[in-house]
Amino acid sequence: MRIRDPKIVDKLAEIHVELRHATALADVTSLGIGGTTDLLRIKKHESLPDLLSLLDAYNTPHKFLGGGSNLLVGDGELPWVVLQLVRPEPDVLIDGNLARVDAAADLGRMITFCAKNDLGGMEGLIGVPGTVGGALRMNAGAYGMQIGSYVREVTLYRAASRKIEVLRGDQISFEYRHTSFAPDDMMLAVILELPSKPYKEILKGIRICNEKRRSSQPLGQKSAGCIFKNPPGASAGRMIDELGLKGLSVGDAQVSDRHANFFVNAGHASAKDMLALIANVRERVRKSFGVSLENEVVVWNA
Ligand code: EPU
Repeated sequence: MRIRDPKIVDKLAEIHVELRHATALADVTSLGIGGTTDLLRIKKHESLPDLLSLLDAYNTPHKFLGGGSNLLVGDGELPWVVLQLVRPEPDVLIDGNLARVDAAADLGRMITFCAKNDLGGMEGLIGVPGTVGGALRMNAGAYGMQIGSYVREVTLYRAASRKIEVLRGDQISFEYRHTSFAPDDMMLAVILELPSKPYKEILKGIRICNEKRRSSQPLGQKSAGCIFKNPPGASAGRMIDELGLKGLSVGDAQVSDRHANFFVNAGHASAKDMLALIANVRERVRKSFGVSLENEVVVWNA
């Protein structure tokens, strides 16, 4: 979708929103898949209510992009524009055991910055690509921890009230890869309350998690992490592996031969290829195990 009306273009500049015409979403997602649309980069959180009113007034559908690391975007010309926060400098401020973090901050850099300030707890998430906002919305977790456990307060743009609001951690429910945020809420900032730990000790934990991840996941390849959620009490990766599906492919979309719940773009995979592979694997698992796997990856199909 293209924004051409000079009235909108002028207004965007006025409210500190940068318009990047015809952005290939394949270039801003870790899977390297996705068609083209206009990208709106938001330099100031306060612009959001005005920006959303403007888009509404001109009937311009939109979606919010975080780090693009858990996302499968459709092919071709996309029927909505994409909004993304510009990362401010600094993006993390430490105050005792609290870390005040902008949603556009890189998750890994935030974890290491907190570690250098002797704040731990997030070691399990090291190596998970993406922004803090994306991790928060999905309640990212690994190796027995999840980000939701450390959330003290969240600032977000609430689509329902069309306002920027602040929620306390106990007003939000964080479940396995799921939160009570509405799909069209946009994460803006979070205050995490983290346990004090000496840097050296945190670093040890980080090294262990890094090693585990390197030995079991295809880190050097284009992927969106795990494609399916684990069903209660089971592992999607193990089930897919047991069916002998590692290496199965549709075009350049391929089940990783390292971890069967990671599907990689081994060249120039299209969304169509990846969606066909997902449907194929889901059906085989359903037939053999009687389990219907739910997507963990977020799909924006046109
Ligand atoms: N397994 C296999 N074959 C495979 C993959 C896994 O047999 O191809 C077996 C493993 O040997 C292990 C079990 O399945 O016994 C579980 O595997 P793993 O420890 O890799 O964990 P997972 O359940 O597959 C989850 C998360 C990952 C997270 C890891 C580590 C989900 C869907 N996945 O994977 O998160 O990194 O635990 O905590 O919850 C993601 O969210 O994108 C993601 C990758």
